[in-house]
Amino acid sequence: MSGFAAVDVIRAKRDGGVLSDAQIDWVVDAYTRGLVADEQMAALAMAILLRGMSAQEIARWTAAMIASGERLDLSPVSRPTVDKHSTGGVGDKITLPLTPLVAACGAAVPQLSGRGLGHTGGTLDKLESVPGWRAALSNVEFIAQLRDVGAVICAAGEGLAPADRKLYALRDVTGTVEAIPLIASSIMSKKIAEGTGALVLDVKVGTGAFMKNVDDARELARTMVELGGAHGVRTVALLTDMSTPLGLTIGNAVEVTESVEVLAGGGPADVVELTLALAREMLAAAGLPDADPAAALRDGRAMDSWRRMIRAQGGDPDAPLPTAPEVEVVRAESDGFVAAIDAYAMGVAAWRLGAGRARKEDPVSIPAGVVLHKRPGDPVRAGDPLYELRAEDAGRIPAALADAARAVTVAPAAPERKPLVIERVG
Ligand code: URA
Repeated sequence: MSGFAAVDVIRAKRDGGVLSDAQIDWVVDAYTRGLVADEQMAALAMAILLRGMSAQEIARWTAAMIASGERLDLSPVSRPTVDKHSTGGVGDKITLPLTPLVAACGAAVPQLSGRGLGHTGGTLDKLESVPGWRAALSNVEFIAQLRDVGAVICAAGEGLAPADRKLYALRDVTGTVEAIPLIASSIMSKKIAEGTGALVLDVKVGTGAFMKNVDDARELARTMVELGGAHGVRTVALLTDMSTPLGLTIGNAVEVTESVEVLAGGGPADVVELTLALAREMLAAAGLPDADPAAALRDGRAMDSWRRMIRAQGGDPDAPLPTAPEVEVVRAESDGFVAAIDAYAMGVAAWRLGAGRARKEDPVSIPAGVVLHKRPGDPVRAGDPLYELRAEDAGRIPAALADAARAVTVAPAAPERKPLVIERVG
């Protein structure tokens, strides 16, 4: 007998109390082992969402989640290791060009990524557009690729923070994803367990993000930066705008194509800007402040690194990506300027086209998605193409059209330009 009862822990948090270290260690461990039931953990997660947690409680909860599994040792990798994590957005393909770019500049990037759920896309789903590429690597393969290529993007193994795996799935279906202590501990437990030496966080703010306002995003960023520091991982965060989708593509294959354009020295200005801003932070955090990521994009080193990374995981970087048979082009009805493209509504449109999944077991459509022809601020004439919807199945287009139409506003005057990088926390 442990001397604890789940219902007492739930009541303590429900009534606004502070959980002891021993209560936290016990409840996280007992839940992972199936001794605390899902409904009890769901009640506790809701109490945490409503009552919050102290800094000490969050630190202990994170440590307990790390302790639920293994912690990788990346010491066989001779280069400094640095990873990046985005809290998730629409059109957020930055990991794809960023990982090989930072590797090309001398660091090693151990990027354990996830799959999309809801309106936000997942890096692994996007990369699976590349014929032959495989997401699952053993720990031995992961460390060997990190040592030899310097860049890995793969699925997190079952052994890393299993408490988070179970809890995240439960939060997803109980309306408890949005609790800052639970988001911070979820993200940081996985990143700390992965063994990276440094970490740069891209905390998204806006309609397409978990955090809808800057104050909440700043609190999440500060909480994660402190957690990283407390576990010996140099951590900084950028708060970045997610009220508009990133770049011109939202989906899987379409985002890979755009990422390759960035690696070839082109691509949309906002994707290049954010990729370089995060690369500079990562290289500084890795102790390589003089590296020049813009030069690595220009001179082909980043592209070479991408090709090596894709090949190392069985992918063919030269294979054509699948294209969608159904394409619907939507045109402007009046002259003016694109005033806004709402990230959330466009993310839902891409999801309805099949780019995302409704349940975590569902497959995603590789070629489905949205391609924007205009960005906010662009002038338009009546009849100009605004965006196109792509799907494998024409039956998916009408519902997506309704969301996409809601997302895009054309107005007589140009909107004010918003900065992409809002603030740095570190
Ligand atoms: N991403 C995570 O890994 N965990 C969360 O709780 C939210 C976003």
